[in-house]
Amino acid sequence: VLKTEFLGQKYENPFMNASGVHCLTVNELDELKRSKAGAFITKSATTLERAGNPEPRYYATALGSINSMGLPNKGFQYYLDYVVDYQKNDSDGKAPFFSVAGMSRDENINILKIIQRSDFQGVTELNLSCPNVPGKPQVGYDFQMTEQILTQVFEFFRKPLGVKLPPYFDFAHFDIVANILNKFPLAYVNCVNSVGNGLYVDAASESVVIKPKNGFGGIGGDYIKPTALANVRAFYTRLNPTIKVIGTGGIASGQDAFEHLLCGATMLQVGTALYEEGISVFERLEKELKEVMTQKGYKTIEEFRGQLRTL
Ligand code: DHB
Repeated sequence: VLKTEFLGQKYENPFMNASGVHCLTVNELDELKRSKAGAFITKSATTLERAGNPEPRYYATALGSINSMGLPNKGFQYYLDYVVDYQKNDSDGKAPFFSVAGMSRDENINILKIIQRSDFQGVTELNLSCPNVPGKPQVGYDFQMTEQILTQVFEFFRKPLGVKLPPYFDFAHFDIVANILNKFPLAYVNCVNSVGNGLYVDAASESVVIKPKNGFGGIGGDYIKPTALANVRAFYTRLNPTIKVIGTGGIASGQDAFEHLLCGATMLQVGTALYEEGISVFERLEKELKEVMTQKGYKTIEEFRGQLRTL
């Protein structure tokens, strides 16, 4: 019922972890491999290992989460070894996507050059929405830089590449970004990364709840679903049909998943709900999405993907 084809690969279901959640170590990645997730993705990698920000750096609230992790990761070679090894030894059809988040244009280019030369044949996700370079807006909010990086990348990169985008909030921005992305042979866009730099206040303690950045951090969960759906829909309706859309943001139930698919998403990534519930979340989401589809009389996702009605 939930079978999904994405970039010519068949997956048992559309669910994945959102990069950053449950994918830092080989142990966590192996747990995703053994889980009911249809596919999975590695933690965004930098050239060198990073410890990330001081804790507490993630906090769950009633309606979602706030985090400022600071890009803790094992360094890109660690994940490249993992995904190449996976490709050689596992044939379960859920090969991991490889997320890359260099802190500068040059760092991204260098990492992608190494991936291009490597044996990795899977999907690479370039994170253009990493909120961790002080003093500069994230790449996705710098339209000139976005176009520059993609221009440079596609001079040499020939493997399937997607980009992780920040949420946009303005029709002019949807138009501008879609126009830029449509110039490139992108495989997909992933909408959305966390809603940037929210502030959660705990009234009882009269305090912020995470230590980095005086409490400011990326917002995920229920708070951001309408923004995520808007971005999925805006890009689904603006991009060349060869560019697929991954829906990320506020997926915690089968109905949330259904809504993302209606807006045009092909794969679905789960961040906050996975962090809160652990990998059993995938089994529940599959069951719930199947129930929604059965109730509505849909036998495959293709029957309703992108078919959102307007009034
Ligand atoms: C981190 C957060 C992000 O939203 C992202 O895209 C990459 C890294 C982090 O804080 O680790």
